[in-house]
Amino acid sequence: MAWIVENRLKAYTPTRAEPYLTDTMRKTMEDTYLLRYPRKQAALLPLFHMVMHEYGYIPAGAIDEAAAFLGITQAQVQDAVSFYEEFRLQPSGQYAVQVCRSISCELAGHEAVLGKVRELLGTDPEETTEDGKITVFAVECLGACEQAPCALINGKLRGNLRPESFAQELQQLPPLPQHGDHSAGNGAAHAAKIPGATASKVEPEVHGH
Ligand code: FES
Repeated sequence: MAWIVENRLKAYTPTRAEPYLTDTMRKTMEDTYLLRYPRKQAALLPLFHMVMHEYGYIPAGAIDEAAAFLGITQAQVQDAVSFYEEFRLQPSGQYAVQVCRSISCELAGHEAVLGKVRELLGTDPEETTEDGKITVFAVECLGACEQAPCALINGKLRGNLRPESFAQELQQLPPLPQHGDHSAGNGAAHAAKIPGATASKVEPEVHGH
């Protein structure tokens, strides 16, 4: 078992003119979260939880807007966002499936789970199925080691996984509505609104700073 180091910063160009931080988000921040902390910077994580819930990922433009809104540098925002793997920097499928790869799940057979998922869905971790429905991620400990091997499907825990039945469960997930459902925390439902992004292939964004 070793910590896997990966470069999570992606290059980008702004993809739309309208702001990613909506009026509702800004008001919620001002009326709720900013009051809780002595410095605005401390409210960065709740702000990005809202962004993740809205878009299913953290658009590059939201990083710039968050820096301006909180009065900190873009580098400080990037620093925090790229540290936490639950903040995804690219759109994903309608279902984000996060399979734990940390020690308990590794010992309990997470590789077999990923292998069967790969076999039935035809995708490797970080790839999205052709129909745009599912993106599988291999992630660090989900805090449910007693249920190893385990995974999250759009934030909902599934434990004591059996490779075959879990992969079949993924295959049978129903398509989600394309618009207006923010409960799933998905990205493909939003991908249609994102220029340069398709459900099965996301064009890399080019850093503009
Ligand atoms: S190691 Fe997998 S949930 Fe902790």
